Amino acid sequence: MTAVRPADQLRGEIQVPSDKSIGHRALMAAAIADGPSEVSLHLPGADLESTRRCVAALRAGGVLDCGNSGTSMRLLTGLLAGQGLDGTLDGDDSLRRRPMERIAAPLRAMGARVDPTDGHAPIRVSGAPLHAAEHRLSVASAQVLGAICLAALGAEGETRIEVPGPTRDHTERLLAWLDVPIRRDGRVTTVSGPARPRAFSLAVPGDPSSAAAWIVAATLHPDAELRLTDVCLNPTRLGFVDVLRRMGAEIDVEGGHADGPEPVGDLVVRSARRLTAVSVSGDEVANLIDELPLLGVAMAAADGVSELRDAGELRVKESDRIAAVVAGLSGIGATVDELPDGWRVSRGAPRDAAISTYGDHRIAMAFAVAALSGVAGEVRIDDAECASVSYPSFWDDMRSISAAGVAA
Ligand code: S3P
Repeated sequence: MTAVRPADQLRGEIQVPSDKSIGHRALMAAAIADGPSEVSLHLPGADLESTRRCVAALRAGGVLDCGNSGTSMRLLTGLLAGQGLDGTLDGDDSLRRRPMERIAAPLRAMGARVDPTDGHAPIRVSGAPLHAAEHRLSVASAQVLGAICLAALGAEGETRIEVPGPTRDHTERLLAWLDVPIRRDGRVTTVSGPARPRAFSLAVPGDPSSAAAWIVAATLHPDAELRLTDVCLNPTRLGFVDVLRRMGAEIDVEGGHADGPEPVGDLVVRSARRLTAVSVSGDEVANLIDELPLLGVAMAAADGVSELRDAGELRVKESDRIAAVVAGLSGIGATVDELPDGWRVSRGAPRDAAISTYGDHRIAMAFAVAALSGVAGEVRIDDAECASVSYPSFWDDMRSISAAGVAA
C-alpha cells in the first residue's frame, strides 16, 4: 500500500520511459528485419520486457508469455502468422479476460490458423500460407490494424484495412521508415507483401501516455511548472493535450523535430488558472483512450459537469476502467455517474480515499496524480507496484518533482 498526499509545489524535469506502442513495434520489426538491428529503450516497463522476451523466443514454437500486455499479444499474433511460425500466446489473468476474436477473425480471412480459447488467450497460431485481403474493422483499434499489417508482410499482394475512426499510426510510420511498401490514406491503410523491414537502429522517444500523468498533475496543481523531455509528439497520441487545452490547461510544445519515424520534443506545463468542464465523445476518444483515467481526474477538478461518451472500449482494457474510474472518483469526493460507455463528473469536496487499482497501472497513476495535485486528500493505493507495467520509475519521478510526495 502506498499513500500519496497533496504536494506543496511541483517543479522539475522528467524524462518519461520510452513509448510502449513504438517500442513493441520496433522490437518486433527488429526480430524480422534483414540484418541485425538495435532498439534503444529508456527505462522499459514490464510490457516492453514481455515483448522483448517473446521476440527472443519467436522461432522456438513454444508458449510466449505476454504478461499483462494486450499490445504484445495482439501484435505478436499477427507477426507469427505473417512469418508462418507456430506458437501459443498466453498472459496473466487480466489479459486472459480480454477479447481476442477481434484479432483472430481478420487473420483467418488471410488464411492464417489462429485459435483463441473461447475468444480469449491462450491463442494457438500454426504456420500457414497467407494471402492478401480487404478488411473493414468494426473497432477503431490500432492493435488490430497493426497485427494485420504485420501479417500482411508475409502475404502475397495488397492488403487493405479500413478502420471506422482515427487510430494511432505507429505501425505505418515505422514500417514505411523501414522501406516496407505501406501507406495510410485517411482511414485506409494498404500494405504490399511480401516485404521485409530493412535493418535499423532506433532510440524510442518518451511515451506521451506516461507524460500525461505529469501534464495533468501540473495542470491541476496550483503551484506547478514541469518539463517533460524527448516525448513522442505524434498527433494521433496528443488528443489529451487538445482536450486539456480546451479545458484551460497551459501546455507548450517546444523544439519538435523528426527523429526516425516519429516527431519528438519537450512539453512544458504550468498550473491552469481555471479549468472548465468538457465533453468528449465520438472520433475523439480513440486518440486519448489510454489517458481517459487521468482525464477523469481532470474533469473532477473542473467547473461544471463534464461528460465522456463512446468509450465502451475502456471496459475491456487492463481492467474495466469505467467501473474503476467511477469508483475512484466517487471515493475522492467527486460527484460521478457511471454511463454504459463513459461517465459524467463534477467537482466535490476533496477527501481521503482508499483506491483499488484492480491491478491496472493507469488507475494507480491516475489516482496518485489526483492526490498529488490536491484534487483528493490523502489517497492510499492498494497495488502501487502495478505502475511498473508501463512506468517503473513513476514513484521515483513523483518524489523528484514534489515537496510532499509518497508516504509509504
Ligand atoms: C495500442 C492501442 C490501443 C491502446 C494500447 C496500445 C497500440 O489499444 O489502448 O494501450 O499500441 O496499438 P486499441 O488499439 O486496442 O484500442
